[in-house]
Amino acid sequence: MSAQIKPPDAVTAKTAVPETKDLVVGVADVNYYFGQGEGRKQVLYSNNLSLYSGEIIIMTGPSGSGKTTLLTLIGALRGLQEGSLKVFGNELAGLGPAEQEKIRRNIGFIFQAHNLLDSLTAYQNVKLVTELIDYSPSEADRRTVDILTRLGMQERLLYKPQKLSGGQRQRVAIGRALVNRPRLILADEPTAALDKETGRQVVDLLRNLAKNEGCTILIVTHDNRILDVADRIVTMVDGYVASDVDVNESLTIVQFLKKCPVFETFSPTLLADVANKMQREIHPPGAVIIQQGDEGDKFYIIRQGTVEVLKETIGKADLVATLEAGAFFGELALLRKEPRAATVRTLEEVELLTLSKEIFIDVVQKSASFEEQLRKVYFAR
Ligand SMILES: Nc1ncnc2c1ncn2[C@@H]1O[C@H](COP(=O)(O)OP(=O)(O)OP(=O)(O)O)[C@@H](O)[C@H]1O
Ligand SMILES: [Mg+2]
Repeated sequence: MSAQIKPPDAVTAKTAVPETKDLVVGVADVNYYFGQGEGRKQVLYSNNLSLYSGEIIIMTGPSGSGKTTLLTLIGALRGLQEGSLKVFGNELAGLGPAEQEKIRRNIGFIFQAHNLLDSLTAYQNVKLVTELIDYSPSEADRRTVDILTRLGMQERLLYKPQKLSGGQRQRVAIGRALVNRPRLILADEPTAALDKETGRQVVDLLRNLAKNEGCTILIVTHDNRILDVADRIVTMVDGYVASDVDVNESLTIVQFLKKCPVFETFSPTLLADVANKMQREIHPPGAVIIQQGDEGDKFYIIRQGTVEVLKETIGKADLVATLEAGAFFGELALLRKEPRAATVRTLEEVELLTLSKEIFIDVVQKSASFEEQLRKVYFAR
């Protein structure tokens, strides 16, 4: 098989746009300060965060890093001071108390300190919030009983908070947050007071809401037993979002990296670090990604699509391989400091993950057994 190779001018790289999901929360350049005058202290620094419909986001980070402050700003529970914050498309900056209250009606809050009314039963505590919505009495009753039953509280509908354990009170508070099926749920340590089994029931319920009803759920937690529900893990450090990882995408990239001999012996931590450093490029069909004879400048993994690898000799080009999603190329020229040994061209629209030469060499050298891996690379090809 042979093919004529076009010059490498067809390459247009751009950043991938996530599939269309509704933006539910948009935080842009948000700062926040506590105190006045001399005692004024900044606790949030230039925060940016976008939350989409149907996502479960776990937010974690050291105590005092600003998680609760950011969560209460998103929930319109405190006024925005600097920056922009949009919830359901409404800008929160400059809103008065009445408008903030309207926003809050569409949000379900679950807090560590669950302010239940002591004079009311579990059933009444939950039913109370259904009055914010125009349900018929029978619908309000049905929803209240249904949510408390799903939380395992069906035997305790008529108990008042004093007669309930901490975990049971927390479940009533969760029922209250969920009964109106809000589109956004903000939860601060929702499982902290719960035993393992109840904690699991709660996160499963939250997961169902997110997946079946497109509800967005932000959970602040230190509980690593519930990490499996997260679509994204956001980490706050010293008042800002220090990392924001799309968990499934990151897992996919790590699996791809592990197949490459260079990264085979890397620890999960190091692999996740490499995955985080990868850039995304989209190329149209027929684009030349690598030109034989050029100097190597990047390492590539195919995220989606197919490419052909061609060896050029005078006047013709032979197809030597077709590579699909998960395959990698481009490492040899970087490791051997030799020109590109073949040309790589896209056969359809292709999404690539790339590491620059500098980062690639840097991460590979960080690994304990760089030489050993280099030998494997020579051996494998
Ligand atoms: N009402 C307040 N007045 C003054 N400072 C405050 C107030 N609330 C919080 N802070 C300070 O703001 C910073 C962020 O606090 P925040 O409660 O948001 O942290 P957090 O990440 O939720 O911590 P934790 O994991 O312990 O709940 C901390 O330094 C805290 O001391
Ligand atoms: Mg907190």
